[in-house]
Amino acid sequence: MPKLYIETVGCQMNMLDSELVVASLRRQGYELVTTPHEADTILFNTCSVRQHAEDKIYSALGRLKDAKKLHPHKIIGVVGCMAQKDQRLVFERAPYVDLVVGPGQLHQIPKLLDEIAAGSGPQMEVSLDRTEGNRLEVERSFESYDPLRDEQMRPSPYQAFVRIMIGCDKFCTYCIVPKVRGPEQSRPAAHIEAEVRKLAAEGCREITLLGQTVNSYSHTAEGRRWRLSDLLERLHTIDGLERIKFVTNYPLDMTDDLLEAVRDLPKVSRYLHVPVQSGSDAVLKRMTRCYTVSEYREMLARTRAMIPDVAVTSDFIVGFCGETEEDFVASARLLIEGRFKNSFIFKYSPREGTKGAELFADDVPEDVKRRRNNDLLALQTTISEEDNQRFLGREVRILVEGPSKSARKLDDDSPQVQLTGRTTCDRIVVFEGNRRQIGQFLPITIYDANAFTLFGTVVTHHVGPEVYAL
Ligand code: 5AD
Ligand code: SF4
Repeated sequence: MPKLYIETVGCQMNMLDSELVVASLRRQGYELVTTPHEADTILFNTCSVRQHAEDKIYSALGRLKDAKKLHPHKIIGVVGCMAQKDQRLVFERAPYVDLVVGPGQLHQIPKLLDEIAAGSGPQMEVSLDRTEGNRLEVERSFESYDPLRDEQMRPSPYQAFVRIMIGCDKFCTYCIVPKVRGPEQSRPAAHIEAEVRKLAAEGCREITLLGQTVNSYSHTAEGRRWRLSDLLERLHTIDGLERIKFVTNYPLDMTDDLLEAVRDLPKVSRYLHVPVQSGSDAVLKRMTRCYTVSEYREMLARTRAMIPDVAVTSDFIVGFCGETEEDFVASARLLIEGRFKNSFIFKYSPREGTKGAELFADDVPEDVKRRRNNDLLALQTTISEEDNQRFLGREVRILVEGPSKSARKLDDDSPQVQLTGRTTCDRIVVFEGNRRQIGQFLPITIYDANAFTLFGTVVTHHVGPEVYAL
């Protein structure tokens, strides 16, 4: 039985891709192992969004150089976004790599591994660049890779990611995604429904719908157009499914029909990730985000007016080309005003092949980027902490996901254990419980909170009058 090791970096799309690659290879008889040493095939599922993610993969590849010399039959593969972006360059930088496969060609992996094992040398399959054909040709070269699920590779048996679209057409100037993940293509609602029904029948209680701009979902079939709100309504009827989340939202596509669906459908999480990226109109313009700060503010106000208990999270990029101190202060102001549940803050990383890298100089010094990054993080931590304090003494309903991070480290398999789960607004809750509660929805009373976590106890309801033993 060939042994497979896979390492995944990047976003939830990559986690789902890895799950599907593993599912297809297990069907071919591969066994999954947890270290590269025991593996016959080592795959890296890569990310290109920032330079740091790429550097990590190239150094991991560097560490395998000697292992490959000692065991020339070990197959080393680089798949995903960096494979699509760097293509032959991967072989030039790490000549002992056997396989390079872009995210739109993952279905080819089993066949390519067979060919390599049969001695046909290094293999590469990538999709067309967006300039290498007309839209239809480029679209066809990116295949959505969906139906093979593998329960054991999911975050938990009760949770699954479901892709509803691939690619992106927004072309924000800093972003490599439209190049490496290709044109935006939505999947038919009927296919998505069938996949979710199957997952629910397998015991999955929560799904997260994935798309780079998930709220731009649009597909025409069955004589009508399906928007994300229509899809949510359709999935809401599925028995056994209890919670539906979706990421990532594009601010301009946050339409009222979607907000109404979040408000009116109880299974839909009251949690919206809507990245703003910057609080300065000049920077947003250079980023080609296609909205102004006041349009984003209006969207946020509308969202909160319609769904008062909603939790909104955001992304900010600091140090984008030409970002002045005033631009940065405007981002800080928006972060404070926005009262986000959480914000992910990133230092701008120029990506070759994007308009940003071509048109603008990466002119904010690294130490300034670092300082701005730390400043925004500190502001957000204070806000998150204040926001979480509101939950003290309150009861929340969580889906129990499994042992908490610290319980996992203890490596103790007694039934009583520290568990973790999430509320409908995506807040992490830690409590003392029993392993059999994993996968259940439980009421929890919160007694403590920091910026990242709520701490609570399971609510127990007494039935009938209390009787005290004398
Ligand atoms: N540099 C830094 N951050 C980036 N992001 C996307 N591209 C870049 C880049 N070149 C961030 C954006 C996006 C998140 C997934 O990653 O904030 O929302
Ligand atoms: Fe990248 Fe912008 Fe598309 Fe998001 S919307 S994936 S940031 S191009």
